[in-house]
Amino acid sequence: MIGQIGKEMGIHGARWHALHGCYFSDPSIASFLLERVAEVAITSRPDILIDLGGGTGFLLAELVNRGFVDAGLRLVNLDCSERQLAVANDKGICCLRGAITDIWRDLVDQEQMRFLFMMRSVLHYFGRDGLMPLLRHLRAQARVGEFFIHQAACFESKREADCMNMLYERMKTDKWYPTLDELGDCIAAAGWRTRSISRAPTLTLTSEDLACRYGLDENDIACIREEIARQFPDMMNVFKPMQRGFCAFLSYRVYACIAADHESSQNQ
Ligand SMILES: C[S@@+](CC[C@H](N)C(=O)[O-])C[C@H]1O[C@@H](n2cnc3c(N)ncnc32)[C@H](O)[C@@H]1O
Repeated sequence: MIGQIGKEMGIHGARWHALHGCYFSDPSIASFLLERVAEVAITSRPDILIDLGGGTGFLLAELVNRGFVDAGLRLVNLDCSERQLAVANDKGICCLRGAITDIWRDLVDQEQMRFLFMMRSVLHYFGRDGLMPLLRHLRAQARVGEFFIHQAACFESKREADCMNMLYERMKTDKWYPTLDELGDCIAAAGWRTRSISRAPTLTLTSEDLACRYGLDENDIACIREEIARQFPDMMNVFKPMQRGFCAFLSYRVYACIAADHESSQNQ
């Protein structure tokens, strides 16, 4: 997994906030996730809020700025990228370097605390085969009744998902995007009950940004543009050829999930 992000290390750290039209450093875009997190925090009263793949810590810092965080709440930003964590602002946030799948509850909590798990735009890093093991791993860390609030890139139709997955395959990454149905099935099978699903703003990916992120040259971009435009001419809402290069559009949903007990997860 660390190898998977190795390719895009160049855009981690100081450059991250300006990438993709500042999507990941835009407070109004962050609201779509953070308001759900704040609502759940009021009722579930967690002791620890852990942002899984929290990058530069922007989301946790935003929660602090907005006064959404109670004084006693411990904030943990877990990310495997040293460069991302190097630019994280302090604001009382504890940074942990490591892979999500290597993190066990006991490493963070020795005192039987209540957890709230949060994540934005990370599930697709685990690929088609890694999604289910990841969701199961997270469920194994949670106690019944604890929440996992996450924003995930996913698509309404199989054809939309196929189009985006072809783009990522051609860019030589293992990232993979499910349909809403596929993701819903995996979440349920892993033992999470979905309380709500809401839309979050679409992320526009320009071929210039993608070339820089994944080390592509002009020829790569031209080949990808031609091949995907030919195979998916009806998918302009996902992949749009431009005069030079292309734009791709990543759609997101915010999921509020609760760790179900064994019995109720069987009856979903
Ligand atoms: C698209 S960025 C999102 C960052 C942050 N969640 C946000 O919304 O601003 C994905 C982040 O996940 C981290 N990441 C990817 N795979 C990871 C893993 N297996 N363990 C820990 N962090 C991971 C990357 O280093 C990166 O910072």
